[in-house]
Amino acid sequence: MTDPRTYQPSKDALKDRVILITGASDGIGKAVAIAAASHGAQVVLHGRSVRKLEAVYDEIVNAGAPRPSILPLDFEKAGPEEYEKLVAALEQEFGRLDGLLHNASMLGERAPIEHHDVAKWMRTMHVNVNAPFILTRTCLPLLKKSADPVILFTSSGVVSSPRPFWGSYLVSKWASDGLMSMLAQELEKQPAMRVNSINPGAVKTNMRLQAYPAEDRSKLREAHTIVAAYLYLLGPDSRGVHGQTINAQ
Ligand SMILES: NC(=O)c1ccc[n+]([C@@H]2O[C@H](COP(=O)([O-])OP(=O)(O)OC[C@H]3O[C@@H](n4cnc5c(N)ncnc54)[C@H](OP(=O)(O)O)[C@@H]3O)[C@@H](O)[C@H]2O)c1
Repeated sequence: MTDPRTYQPSKDALKDRVILITGASDGIGKAVAIAAASHGAQVVLHGRSVRKLEAVYDEIVNAGAPRPSILPLDFEKAGPEEYEKLVAALEQEFGRLDGLLHNASMLGERAPIEHHDVAKWMRTMHVNVNAPFILTRTCLPLLKKSADPVILFTSSGVVSSPRPFWGSYLVSKWASDGLMSMLAQELEKQPAMRVNSINPGAVKTNMRLQAYPAEDRSKLREAHTIVAAYLYLLGPDSRGVHGQTINAQ
């Protein structure tokens, strides 16, 4: 099997694939969106901040890659009908969806369970677990219209090595991997559909700074250097990889 971490995509590896990337306005999602577009993908940029999404849009267009689309939605506030509208817009523009990368997440509060703020816990679980569930459910009919659909969830090192005080973030990443594994089994009889998780490892982003404010950031990988495994899992070269959690580093 190809090592996803050292995968070298061809220039057209993702040509004409329609890929929705959540949290594409910053950090890892932004880097994956730019890389996917540079390999021919028609990326749909999701995030909260329209200003930040427009900056990613400009970067992609200025590089001569396929013109992306922008679909802002705040997962904390959106109701089911807003997800329906988002998917209706995708259906109208493209008629199908080839890839769905669940990348957006929030860190939430880190505190002992005894003192964890209940409202903050619920917000994190909503953005990190409920939103990917609702978006997956709403996008499945459109994914089934693709000849080679993929769904990619985002895992974390807290799943393989749980630790105290990581609160709702840790539990949300366990839940996200559980959702991935369950969905992969449910879709086993639809061999074209691939469902996996990716653990990016330590990456120099705003979330990482929030999680480890005192660490030496000069040793961290930049987001654009860890995208190979993402491109592999979002493209046709990963056919046959299903129900797995893959490390990007
Ligand atoms: N960085 C690491 O070291 C690391 C390690 C393990 C796992 N991860 C995972 O990798 C993924 C990306 O993390 P990152 O470090 O790139 O984070 P980041 O730089 O903080 O970016 C987070 C993205 O999620 C979006 N987002 C946050 N809350 C949202 C909401 N309520 N509604 C819609 N979008 C929302 C943000 O949009 P706005 O820009 O509009 O706020 C942003 O685009 C996450 O799933 C994270 O758990 C990261």
